[in-house]
Formats: sequence, C-alpha cells, structure tokens
Amino acid sequence: MELLEKLNWRYAAKAMNGEKVSEDKIERILEAARLAPTSSGLQPFEIFVVKNQEVKEQIKPVAWNQSVITDCSHLLVFAAWDHYTPERINYMFDLTNEIRGFKNEGWENYRQMLLGMYPTKDPEENFIHASKQAYIAFTEALTAAAFEAVDATPLEGFEPDAVDEILGLREKGLRSAVLLPLGYRKTNEDWLVNLQKVRKPMEDLVTVIE
Ligand SMILES: Cc1cc2nc3c(=O)[nH]c(=O)nc-3n(C[C@H](O)[C@H](O)[C@H](O)COP(=O)(O)O)c2cc1C
Repeated sequence: MELLEKLNWRYAAKAMNGEKVSEDKIERILEAARLAPTSSGLQPFEIFVVKNQEVKEQIKPVAWNQSVITDCSHLLVFAAWDHYTPERINYMFDLTNEIRGFKNEGWENYRQMLLGMYPTKDPEENFIHASKQAYIAFTEALTAAAFEAVDATPLEGFEPDAVDEILGLREKGLRSAVLLPLGYRKTNEDWLVNLQKVRKPMEDLVTVIE
C-alpha cells in the first residue's frame, strides 16, 4: 500500500475490539515517534505506554468515557515538559556532543542562546511550546500505526489534570498533552468506520504563490 492509501485507510476509530497489538509493531510505532523532528532537537516530552487495564479503567471516566481507552491494546500518553529548565536543555546538548563525539563552537553558542531564552519564560508558554513538539511525535506515531495496519484514535477529549494525577506526571515535571489508543477496530460497533472521509477541497487548503 502506498502512503496515501494507508492514510485513507486510517480513521479515528470509535470502537476497538480489545485485540492485542504485537510488541514489535508497538516498538516500531514508538521508534517513529522518537524519530520525530522537534524544535532545536530538544524532544521536550515523554511517552507513557499504558498496558495495565486497571490504569486504563481509571483514565476512561476522565476521558469522556470513550470506550477506546479501555478497549485499546496500548494507550499512549504524550506528556510534555512543564518547563524548559537548564538541566533539560543541557541534557540534550550534552547528548548530541556525546553521540557525535565532538564539540562545536556554533552549537555551544546556540546552547547558550537557548539557556538564556527558555528558562526565563513563563512555564505555561514553555509547556505550550513543548506540547506542540509532542504533537509532532504523536502525528508520526499515528502515521506509523497506519503503516503497521494498527488502528488508532487521536484523542484530546480528556481532563489533563486528572490524567496527570493518575499517572503521577506533575512530580516528574510533565503534563499530559494528547492520548493515542492503539488497537484494532470493532467494525460492527463503530458508526464511523464505513463513512466517507471528509476533508475540505485542496483549493481551500493550499495557496500556491508563484
Ligand atoms: C488532536 C486530535 C484530537 C482528537 N480528539 C478526539 C477525541 O477525543 N475523540 C474522538 O473520538 N476523536 C478525536 N479526534 C478525531 C477527529 O475527530 C478526527 O481525526 C477527524 O474528525 C478526522 O477524521 P479521521 O481521523 O477519521 O480521518 C481527534 C483528532 C485529533 C487530531
């Protein structure tokens, strides 16, 4: 299947059948998220993979009682940094130096620029920026899931504070941004599965400036 065919196959599953997704597929989906580009390469988020059914049961009522939360195989929780601290920024710059095996003056100057910029900002503003980066990885995971013929529901309908509490995210300096249940569609109970995809026409989306 070509990429566009897979993206047409993908839809926001409303009902899942509880079937387990194999761990090798999950690993490839997570690897796609890990490979996502992020602003300054900071990867300012973490991904929690909820396999535990009791934890899913706790999350369901604070996620509009959406059945996919408990009927999915793996529930991915994308949690963004609550703030950009010097430690977090330095960690990624040091990791770059370690992996590449050299220090570069331009890169070190860039580090100092970010250290002078992000930590002084309002944490809320930094969280919003970090969340945007988490969404990039979330989209990569969504596409990778389609590539693996795994169904997914992009899911923003939840109470972030409650999910943070259930998973203990605030203590880790994280806040939940978006959820991604992964599993397999339950076709006989899903009102959306056979409906046509609705997208605005290309001309309402794209403006070409010659
Ligand atoms: C960030 C985001 C959050 C969403 N939240 C929910 C949600 O909480 N529950 C739900 O059933 N669908 C949710 N959706 C699914 C969208 O309604 C759906 O993607 C859109 O209508 C397009 O349909 P399609 O994904 O089936 O092509 C969300 C989608 C995105 C991208």
